[in-house]
Amino acid sequence: MLKINLTDDIFYVGVNDRKTELFENHMELPNGVSYNSYLIVDEKVALIDPVEVSFMAEFLFKIKTVLGERKIDYLVINHDEPDHSGAVRAIVQEYPEVQVIGNAKTFGPLEAFYGPLNNKMIVADGETLCLGKHTLQFFTVPMVHWPESMVTYEQTNKILFSNDAFGGFGALNGCIFDDEANLDFYEDDMRRYYANIVGKVASQVVKAVQKLAPVEIKMIAPSHGLVWRSNLQWVFDRYVKWSTGGNDEGVVIAYGSMYGNTALMADIIARGVAEAGVKDIKIYDVSKTEVSHIISDIWKYKGCVIGASAHYGSVFPDMTLLLHELTEFKPMNKVYGVFGGMSWGGGGVKYINGIADKNEWQRPMESVEVKGAPYRQEDVERLYNLGKAIGEAVKNN
Ligand code: FEO
Repeated sequence: MLKINLTDDIFYVGVNDRKTELFENHMELPNGVSYNSYLIVDEKVALIDPVEVSFMAEFLFKIKTVLGERKIDYLVINHDEPDHSGAVRAIVQEYPEVQVIGNAKTFGPLEAFYGPLNNKMIVADGETLCLGKHTLQFFTVPMVHWPESMVTYEQTNKILFSNDAFGGFGALNGCIFDDEANLDFYEDDMRRYYANIVGKVASQVVKAVQKLAPVEIKMIAPSHGLVWRSNLQWVFDRYVKWSTGGNDEGVVIAYGSMYGNTALMADIIARGVAEAGVKDIKIYDVSKTEVSHIISDIWKYKGCVIGASAHYGSVFPDMTLLLHELTEFKPMNKVYGVFGGMSWGGGGVKYINGIADKNEWQRPMESVEVKGAPYRQEDVERLYNLGKAIGEAVKNN
């Protein structure tokens, strides 16, 4: 097995998951995902985060390729979520003397998941641990992505083991480090990960970045995705932009349509957006595209137009998950519009309005509700004008 060095004494021992179809059993993984783990070999040996448990055999093989018969002294748990902590019990069984390191909030959930642990070490925010040549420092970053989350800073080489922060979807296809990869290739997967995993806690992300600002960082080693050693500003810039409501010029139109009439409305709206001069227009059918992809593009672009047919006086069912996620995640600083078909009695547009208004987005025009198919000239103009108004508002931003 190859050894992959971050430094002479620090090794990448993570795994690639290309078999899981749905991350957290609800988000598609067309390009897989990596569960990153790192070994620091010094007078004491520290393992920074285990991996998802079904990869234990491969994980152990990689650890032993680096360590041989040496033991692991410390297992740092930056995050309790099972995509990382899943192998904790297996590691403890393999290395019974290992001390498991977490903060005051780590062990409640961890032992609830995996049962009692014998050798626990609770570290305080900012506390250090000397391994020999390397000293680790622990910083809590609550809610990035769970309440117990922390990051581990290796002071000697100035490496931040950043947990979920600065991570992304996408297995590591040979390229482990940012300067080995085409970053454009990973950006969509990074943003989809951000938008659906930590976007909900964007304000906590900002706090974490501010907290770590005084710390000199030469390398970021997250728990998913590329290790950053050459393009730290590239990833920082994106995280700050995504966390503070920065948007690209473009419009996402997401619709739910039973018989194609609401879909046709989306096309008319899109034409208005295009004639306002907006070039990036994404149209999604919520019954066809898994919602994490739509959320990711809504996070990216300034304009968001949501439409659905009515269904039993409410909204087309497949639209409800997107609306729920938008209410929970609250992408910031959007221009939005609402449209839809009445079916026999309406209700879909009213439902969408009720939820979409909660996000305090800019709304340049009232919603458009259409009876039947959008063939009457009056309806065509209302829909086109909605698109034009959204497009112009996006351009003016
Ligand atoms: Fe990658 Fe929040 O776990």
